[in-house]
Amino acid sequence: MTQDWEELIKDSFVLLSLTQDLVIHSNYHHGLRCAYLAEKIGEELIPEEKDILFFAGLLHDIGAPGGAFHLIHFPDLKTQMINDVIREHCYNSAHLIRMFPFLFEGQHRIADYILHHHEWWKGVGYPRQLREEEIPLGARILRAADAFDIYSRSGKDRNEITPENALHLLENNGEIDPVIYKILQNLSKSENFLYEYRLIENIFYSRYRKKEIKFLTSELDGNLVYEYIGYVIESKLGTSSPGHIYADVLYAVQIANALGLSPQEVEEVKIASYLHDLGKLAIPSEIIEKPALLTEKEWEIVRAHASLTIELLESVPAFKKFSFAGYHHERWDGKGYPQGLKEEEIPLGARIICIADALDAMTSKRPYRPTLTFQEALIEIEKNSGSQFDPNIVPKVLEIYR
Ligand SMILES: [Fe+2]
Ligand SMILES: [Fe+2]
Ligand SMILES: [Fe+2]
Ligand SMILES: [Fe+2]
Repeated sequence: MTQDWEELIKDSFVLLSLTQDLVIHSNYHHGLRCAYLAEKIGEELIPEEKDILFFAGLLHDIGAPGGAFHLIHFPDLKTQMINDVIREHCYNSAHLIRMFPFLFEGQHRIADYILHHHEWWKGVGYPRQLREEEIPLGARILRAADAFDIYSRSGKDRNEITPENALHLLENNGEIDPVIYKILQNLSKSENFLYEYRLIENIFYSRYRKKEIKFLTSELDGNLVYEYIGYVIESKLGTSSPGHIYADVLYAVQIANALGLSPQEVEEVKIASYLHDLGKLAIPSEIIEKPALLTEKEWEIVRAHASLTIELLESVPAFKKFSFAGYHHERWDGKGYPQGLKEEEIPLGARIICIADALDAMTSKRPYRPTLTFQEALIEIEKNSGSQFDPNIVPKVLEIYR
């Protein structure tokens, strides 16, 4: 296992966590904080598992909806229980961990802790209403970290962190293990802890790569990691555009090959295609899944996904080089978004993904407009050559598909 592999995988965990926590114009960094907290509590209670707890904290909500539906807006058990998606997120998160394409040490424990991270000490949590010591210790630690971070933001501004509030709310509500409550109480007396917890971004990035992941598989195919991230994105985009990511990857690779790009360049286009709509996860699903035409205001929100994709990919080192994916809505004539780049200012990979994206969009079912056949979609591509699409790529596209 080379260093590169380990870094890619750790970075992909961070990318997924950041994506989960992204909201338009902000990032809650809830996963980052839970990782930090779970490790801190773990140091006291199960020191040999502190790295496992760190990754469990980072990924605990990976199967939750994200964006405007972020769990921090649903702090109490009652509102969580009446929301199907939230009720099921423990299973979904655990499932995604088990599905990770490489076996690593502690993976099953992470999945198990995550599965039970909403069980309450007094036995009223979900999914299984376990109580007290029936709940795995790692899951109790996650519950405490999760609740501490959520209740720390009980003020109006969700980005304002007030640990005193959390301690007050958790003191007698029966949610967390009393032993862990004491640890949180002690931690909160430390200036250093409070500083690091509040300004998590300042310390997180210099530390997470030092955590160890021990792989139990020796042969690694990097593509599987990107496919996995694509799968997570696809599973969260819900019913709005089933199969969109895979279709986009397929068309983009075919076009890149037809253009005679080198195998390495084709590979980069492929990976970027998996990631191109990452920012959509921060868009409220009632807008993404709206079964009618969007209002201008809603469009504005949807358009933000492109710059969010760029922002996310640029913030994690192993993914930086794929940030060109976020320019897939730029137009050849400069009238696209997010930056209004034109012609060759737009990265070539993004010009390819743009056509792949349009091909899939036009041939997919949408309740508010007719679905085109593949040949009809090609006519549209041809019509918009030189305005929306790169006129040097369009002829190749017609050649391979006609
Ligand atoms: Fe959760
Ligand atoms: Fe959470
Ligand atoms: Fe897009
Ligand atoms: Fe797309």
